[in-house]
Amino acid sequence: MSVITNIEDLRLLAKRRVPRMFYDYADSGSWTEGTYRANEEDFKRILFRQRVAVNIDRRSTAATMLGEKIAMPVAIAPTGMTGMQHADGEILAARAAQKFGVPFTLSTMSICSLEDIARYVPGPFWFQLYVLRDRVFVERLIDRARAAGCSALMLTLDLQVLGQRHRDIKNGLSAPPKPTLANLINLATKPRWCVGMLGTPRRHFGNIFGHVDGVKDMTSLGSWTAQQFDPTLNWTDIEWIKKRWGGKIILKGILDAEDAQFAVDAGADALVVSNHGGRQLDGAPSAIAALPAIVDAVGSKIEVWMDGGVRSGQDVLKAWALGAKGCLIGRAFLYGLGAMGEAGVTRALEIIRNELDLSMAFCGHRSLDTVDRRILLER
Ligand SMILES: Cc1cc2nc3c(=O)[nH]c(=O)nc-3n(C[C@H](O)[C@H](O)[C@H](O)COP(=O)(O)O)c2cc1C
Repeated sequence: MSVITNIEDLRLLAKRRVPRMFYDYADSGSWTEGTYRANEEDFKRILFRQRVAVNIDRRSTAATMLGEKIAMPVAIAPTGMTGMQHADGEILAARAAQKFGVPFTLSTMSICSLEDIARYVPGPFWFQLYVLRDRVFVERLIDRARAAGCSALMLTLDLQVLGQRHRDIKNGLSAPPKPTLANLINLATKPRWCVGMLGTPRRHFGNIFGHVDGVKDMTSLGSWTAQQFDPTLNWTDIEWIKKRWGGKIILKGILDAEDAQFAVDAGADALVVSNHGGRQLDGAPSAIAALPAIVDAVGSKIEVWMDGGVRSGQDVLKAWALGAKGCLIGRAFLYGLGAMGEAGVTRALEIIRNELDLSMAFCGHRSLDTVDRRILLER
């Protein structure tokens, strides 16, 4: 691969280096993948107003999310099985994020555990919680997140049932991969990945394995996880979670202005406009299309963030202009991780920051503080 200049370069390199089932797991959406594609395509339809002859010397992309000062309004999204894109993936991504100065969110379904991140990465991180049926386990998880020094809890609300991703079923997705002939043939073409995996003990869901009674091997872990997503979850559950946690709460997976108001009423500190990266309800609007109505409804009462389809600094600037005080990136960092480990995540963040900085300049702004909807062309 020649010089890496954009997120697409990282995606292509990740596709070469990551075993097919895990690359597909990242690079796919549910059913027809219509919402997955719309997340990116709708960004492209938004156009900037280019301005000239404005003093754009000495610019800054600095911002805050939840009061934390950060290098740009971007945080690493929680993604499951990140340690299967690259050995020790969550540790590497968290390290890259922290050195760069943006928040990292660990998924409940991570390979490296809460305790791994606390041990190997200095400084606080955020923890994403799935509310599972086993509430005793959930309570323990919240307590573990607090003990690990997490500075915010991100509650994901859009995964009470699972959207179907055809490729995951066809590939027989599992962590670690099952030793079928097709997998072994594919793994033989990914020597770098295999060497990394052989060198780490972290190959299954680190937050769960060893913490649930009766889950002792991969088979029992798989069946426990599959029946744990809780279809009964509702707004009253947020109360006890908030109480148990006692710190900052982010609600993720909101696409509707009425739900956004419920999030405010529930006392959340921030909400993420998100369709789970097009992995859940196929046919839902893109996140960037859903954003303005939610900002109009609750933007003055709560920090509104968004994720889905962010692949460039231009996308971050468009989201900011439409009122998102932060973006989470999922695939953009996963591609970097799969391509080049920690250096790839750093590269992804650098690419996005440079694009954000220059796009601000072209729009005639030195700081995000002055950017609003007026930088976009009205259509
Ligand atoms: C491979 C993958 C795994 C994910 N796992 C989780 C998860 O465990 N918890 C969660 O809240 N969201 C999860 N998400 C959704 C992301 O947090 C985020 O909403 C989404 O990736 C944003 O879209 P983008 O990938 O286009 O940036 C996952 C997304 C991907 C791509």
